[in-house]
Amino acid sequence: MCGIVGYFGKNKALPILLEGLERLEYRGYDSAGIVVYCGEKMKSLKSVGRVSSLKEKVIKEDLISGKVGIAHTRWATHGKPSEKNAHPHCDCKRKIWVCHNGIIENYKILKKWLIERGHKFRSETDTEVIPHLIEEYFQGNLENALVKALKKIEGTYAIVAISEKDPNKIVAAKNSSPLIIGIGDKEFIVASDASAILSYTKKVVYLNDKEVAVMNADGIKFLDLFKKSLSKKTHILNWDLSSAQKSGYPHFMLKEIFEQPESIANSLRGRLINKEGITKLGGLDNVRKKMANIKRILISSCGTAFYAGLVGEYLIEEKTGIPVEVDLASEFRYRKPIIDKHTAFLIVSQSGETADSLAALKEAKEKGALTLGIVNTVGSTISRETDAGIYNHAGPEISVASTKAFTSQLSIFILLTLFLARQRQMSLIEGKEIINSLKKIPAKVKQILKNISQIKRIAKKYKKFNNFFFMGRKYNYPVALEGALKLKEISYIHAEGYSAGEMKHGPIALIDKNFPSVFIVTENSVYEKVVSNMEEVKARGGPIIAITNIGNKKLDKIADDVIYVPKTIEILEPILNVVPLQLLAYYIGVMRGRDVDKPRNLAKSVTVE
Ligand code: AGP
Ligand code: GLU
Repeated sequence: MCGIVGYFGKNKALPILLEGLERLEYRGYDSAGIVVYCGEKMKSLKSVGRVSSLKEKVIKEDLISGKVGIAHTRWATHGKPSEKNAHPHCDCKRKIWVCHNGIIENYKILKKWLIERGHKFRSETDTEVIPHLIEEYFQGNLENALVKALKKIEGTYAIVAISEKDPNKIVAAKNSSPLIIGIGDKEFIVASDASAILSYTKKVVYLNDKEVAVMNADGIKFLDLFKKSLSKKTHILNWDLSSAQKSGYPHFMLKEIFEQPESIANSLRGRLINKEGITKLGGLDNVRKKMANIKRILISSCGTAFYAGLVGEYLIEEKTGIPVEVDLASEFRYRKPIIDKHTAFLIVSQSGETADSLAALKEAKEKGALTLGIVNTVGSTISRETDAGIYNHAGPEISVASTKAFTSQLSIFILLTLFLARQRQMSLIEGKEIINSLKKIPAKVKQILKNISQIKRIAKKYKKFNNFFFMGRKYNYPVALEGALKLKEISYIHAEGYSAGEMKHGPIALIDKNFPSVFIVTENSVYEKVVSNMEEVKARGGPIIAITNIGNKKLDKIADDVIYVPKTIEILEPILNVVPLQLLAYYIGVMRGRDVDKPRNLAKSVTVE
């Protein structure tokens, strides 16, 4: 994710672009840049850090005011946050400038091809291939060159571009990443979302995938990638700024829960090699050989990330035969862990700044482990301190409660397991089967999200209870822990996650009609065992909410309420089964009047030990 703004019109572009970046900063904030066409020349400025540091530079540089410009606040995916990697990016002659949101999957091939044709690159980003491709095809008309460039690109994009060689126009294009165009009085503002547009106009046009818009003094026109002109409907926005930043959702948490089909797809994007049943993880290229020789893996993280690590333990042991141990980071550093040169130490962290995790990482490095990270924030401390790693590409997670980062972490663990297993005993056939099932997950998550009315009804029925158990076995035991954490941290209700088999060793003493249990009981290798545990709770009068597969009517007599999820292979179940638990926690929290995006006592990134 990132924030894109473009302005074409009768007013000075600079203040509009800077205000737009500030409004979009929540979408990405590791670096920012701007370029304005000032009569003859393009004038560009970039800065690392927040938009405020770009603003300081602009004032110092006294950027000449032009009436056409584009700007970007970045959430890095390829290339660390730096001035060099900040957008806008330009061609060799600095005549064509581009801002981009998304991932160019085939950028390495394109970059190689362009370098062979004499292009000189300045950054490490995937984005920079776009202005050089436009330059390659430019014959006087910017949109014609952009269309040709887009036909070479595989991946996701929201693009705005301007050029000194075809000035006084902005061209924009979209594929999967969001882009909206505000239509003013002889002026246009193109942006990643309405929050950058609302203070100028409420009249907007939404670009669809593979559509191009051209804005100039004659007005606006729309094309498809065959340059066929399109007619587009305008809409009148009735959002205020806050709802625009949440894309109309009441809270960032709900927005991020609903982003999961897209964020999971982005986590997998360009990383599945179907025909060979393997995964392509660029961040592990420099340790590929070492990974083939590791004999033990230690995983250490906090909170939700720790629960993802527990799923990773089941996965990696089952599919690779490598022994795995998972530890809370706050405990790890006080143990005397046995680490040798065949040990890999893996940190999972959304923020990449969690103090406990960082301390555990330093301890493992001290003892000579190969250190790896699964991190969402590019350029974060943990991502820089590890020997190698895999970025989530889940986009910024604003809500304190982690949702889309968790399902992205689970998806990355599948990729890592495939990577390790195919270096060992896993067959091509099994690798392909897993990849085929994995590709269907975003659509299955979307299917679950269609069911919110039933989950809302269940939340309403149970919102007054003050104690909950969440229970599952095997791959769904960590999901039970995560479900309990979501409810705890969002609604402040006491909720405990337990292995369903552990109930009889004490916890079942708590069960009565005032103590509901949520069972994750999808049809898998331990299904019958979990059903027996449900019977034990039922016999003691405990209310039961069951998460099971669509079509399974056998639990209707045991469970008081049932939430259905699509079937998938057992190792992928956690990605699906956690979604109803996220929604249950969200709706109960809202019904209890909680500040679900910023729960009391919590911080998004715990940078203290
Ligand atoms: C999860 O909803 C919480 N926000 C918290 O447990 C979080 O997962 C934990 O603090 C770890 O954060 P990190 O992934 O940024 O390291
Ligand atoms: N993939 C591009 C980069 O890493 C765009 C990232 C974004 O959407 O901000 O620069």
